[in-house]
Amino acid sequence: MARNKYESVLQQMDSGIVLFDSSGVLSFINVEAAKLLDIPRKALIGCSLRELLFHPLIKKDKRKKILRLYKDTILTRKRYHEFSDRNDRHYLITVTYGDQMDGDFLFSIKDVSDFKRIEQTAYQNDKLAILGKIAAAIAHEIRNPLTSIRGFIQLLRPHLMHLGKEEYARIILAEIDRANDIIFEFLNSSKPSAPMTSEVPISSLLREVVLLTESEALMKGCEIELEEDPHGDTHYVSIDVKQIKQVILNIIRNAIEAIGHVQEDRQGRIRITSEKEGRYVAIRIRDNGIGMEQKTLEHLFDPFFTTKAEGTGLGLSVSYRIIKNHGGIIDVDSKAEEWTEFVIKLPLVTP
Ligand SMILES: Nc1ncnc2c1ncn2[C@@H]1O[C@H](COP(=O)(O)OP(=O)(O)O)[C@@H](O)[C@H]1O
Ligand SMILES: [Mg+2]
Repeated sequence: MARNKYESVLQQMDSGIVLFDSSGVLSFINVEAAKLLDIPRKALIGCSLRELLFHPLIKKDKRKKILRLYKDTILTRKRYHEFSDRNDRHYLITVTYGDQMDGDFLFSIKDVSDFKRIEQTAYQNDKLAILGKIAAAIAHEIRNPLTSIRGFIQLLRPHLMHLGKEEYARIILAEIDRANDIIFEFLNSSKPSAPMTSEVPISSLLREVVLLTESEALMKGCEIELEEDPHGDTHYVSIDVKQIKQVILNIIRNAIEAIGHVQEDRQGRIRITSEKEGRYVAIRIRDNGIGMEQKTLEHLFDPFFTTKAEGTGLGLSVSYRIIKNHGGIIDVDSKAEEWTEFVIKLPLVTP
């Protein structure tokens, strides 16, 4: 009877368990493992490995994984395997065999998606902290020479005027000021310090940003639609207004650029909405531009990742950092060739 008890414990475990005997026949499989393979347990028990690899009820992508698992285990003697499926779940498979197993092979399959996510976030944070430090150091080093160039150009100005080339001085000064502005903006947002916060209603913030970008968007042939949330004026967030504006501007600029790459046959649209979601307000920015491939989606928030010839790849990594500093969440979804949607969730101020 003890055997039955252990068997039902194994059956109900939250990890998948599969046991092969020494002749390669599947002798045990628990509920979870059958669920992962998406096929009834009965259909599997007694199958040989060969039969499994050609089993009509097992989907092709899963059969491929079984084949790889088999090769890795038998040929390269690997004992740990990692897989991810189409829904972006990650699994860790551990293989136990050898003397204590009497020739049997035990496979245990664990869903490690949550660990993966935590690991990924930690990695991302680490990279951003380093980026912040490097950026601050570089910005500092660039600013000093810029200041002296600016000073000398001002001294040269009368001479340039004399030569009828005052225009050069104007251009140089304007360009230096632009470079300084960029550095300032960047330092401002990559600083790890706490943001300067004030409490503002989300709708007025969005209205201002739309005002700022509307004409630029129209010139590039896209319309920005701001869908007003009827309760938007009562949804307060505690934010560094400059920083959050910068994030939304970054996302809108990317959207405009994504639309710029699409053929003339569809009207470019950027739709901005906001609504309360639990203790957050969710701002959604959706465009009908070129969208993104899975590969791009995976690296989107990495510093210096860009697919544009003239891109810096900083916009979204800086945005990610700003939103994190605000205790918020930034996320994205996209369909290649069709659309992209960014979601920013900011904690609501509770009255
Ligand atoms: N709305 C969007 N549609 C399609 N691709 C996008 C969108 N937003 C961002 N991307 C992709 O993410 C990359 C990184 O964006 P970002 O960090 O702003 O850097 P940059 O704009 O300088 O390339 C872009 O190069 C682009 O490939
Ligand atoms: Mg950008």
